[in-house]
Amino acid sequence: MSKLVINAYDKQSRIDKNIYGHFSEHLGRCIYNGVYVGENSPIPNENGMRSDIVKALSDMKLPVLRWPGGCFADEYHWMDGIGPKENRKKMVNTNWGDVTEDNSFGTHEFFELCRQIGCEPYINGNVGSGSVQEMSEWVEYLNFDGVSPMTAMRAENGHPDPFGIRYFAIGNENWGCGGSMRPEYYADEFRRYATFCRNYGENKLYKIACGPNSADYNWTEVLMKQAGHHMNGLSLHHYTICHDWDHKGSATAFDESEWYLTMKKTLEMDDIITGHEHIMDRYDPRRRVALIVDEWGNWFDVEPGTNPGFLYQQNTIRDAVVAGINLNIFNKHSRRVKMANIAQLVNVLQAVILTDGERMILTPTYHVFKMYACHQNATLLGSFIEKRKIGVEDKVKSDDLSESASVDENGNINVTVCNISCTESRDIDAIVVGMKPASVEGEIVTGRMDDFNTFESGNNVKAEPFDGVKLTDDGVSFTLPPCSVVKLTLKA
Ligand code: AHR
Repeated sequence: MSKLVINAYDKQSRIDKNIYGHFSEHLGRCIYNGVYVGENSPIPNENGMRSDIVKALSDMKLPVLRWPGGCFADEYHWMDGIGPKENRKKMVNTNWGDVTEDNSFGTHEFFELCRQIGCEPYINGNVGSGSVQEMSEWVEYLNFDGVSPMTAMRAENGHPDPFGIRYFAIGNENWGCGGSMRPEYYADEFRRYATFCRNYGENKLYKIACGPNSADYNWTEVLMKQAGHHMNGLSLHHYTICHDWDHKGSATAFDESEWYLTMKKTLEMDDIITGHEHIMDRYDPRRRVALIVDEWGNWFDVEPGTNPGFLYQQNTIRDAVVAGINLNIFNKHSRRVKMANIAQLVNVLQAVILTDGERMILTPTYHVFKMYACHQNATLLGSFIEKRKIGVEDKVKSDDLSESASVDENGNINVTVCNISCTESRDIDAIVVGMKPASVEGEIVTGRMDDFNTFESGNNVKAEPFDGVKLTDDGVSFTLPPCSVVKLTLKA
């Protein structure tokens, strides 16, 4: 029996809903032949946006969407993506398979997608191959409400009113695909670009600086020291990669050892965030600057027979547990982590939706996001779960359990728990301090470790009611099956 303690007296930070954000790049079939099929497609769409995808994303309560990249952002020239589509300049997407990008999805289309989903837009500007003027004019085009060349152009393109962007990143991975810069150089570039990204009217830009790659603490140190006062957020990119870049392993064909390796690597997110937090705390003790984990998730080898530049991978129960663990970690760090964006939205990496022509499936990761939506804007509660180390070999040991808890505005407590063991169930005795649950409801995503949804068999893996939770004198007790992610709602 493992003890779980939830302390309703220990109200901590607000869990920003944007921790449940997503990332969409011009990469493979994420935008084109993914969420955007074009107005003339036989697939049902509204202004080119696939209706079934839009509905699924709003049902999941997607709060914020990052675009247009990723590496693509630092070779994207926004003016090529506005105006009549037949006149838009084509380009080569050199990062992702050298395909021709026709720029038919640009700024106006991105805002239309966000409008339909009901989410906040987050744009990533180009530092690597762009210019200060280009970025400054994009912000003017998006946000200015007076007379200017940019606002005249916007009106000509059918949008007289400002779009009103708030979240704006100044470059992506500028230590790598965004220009191979040193942190000292980028910090100065960030300050220069940020100066010319103006605030218009009431709209105050939330400026996000390119942050570290995983555990590159020196990058955070230099950025906070040299440019901390100029930014609202610092991004962090950290993927779960099992072996190395040349051999990331199959998304669906793996054994128990690989399962535990994936979990161990995923749990490293906690240490990495803690390491960056310590540095940020020294320069910014009042936590004005947020940590924005705007790329995370499982990165496996592409599905056999698919374009290696398109990063298309399937999604199993292993992905569901990885999502549940990461989201629990972000909740627990919500004092500093104010946004996170899983990579990527549709058909790329750890996607919540996969498509094949007109067919669409929701992945196990989708169901975890939908279940965890209960934490959005709730208040984190102090919680603790008794853990053991498990694995098949001495060197591949992982924790067996992961949890987080929050209280919502109605006083209901939501607790999300992952059983990381792929073979054993776990009996949990949960003690709730400061609240006597009158009733409890549960939901679960579970299956065999490599179960996944296919276009032929449909949505076999999904969230289902979780029965068998018993009210006890001081809380609840329940048994978690192996490979499971559970949400319990304790009602006062
Ligand atoms: O998400 C795929 C790529 O991973 C992004 O384009 C880049 O920022 C990161 O390296």
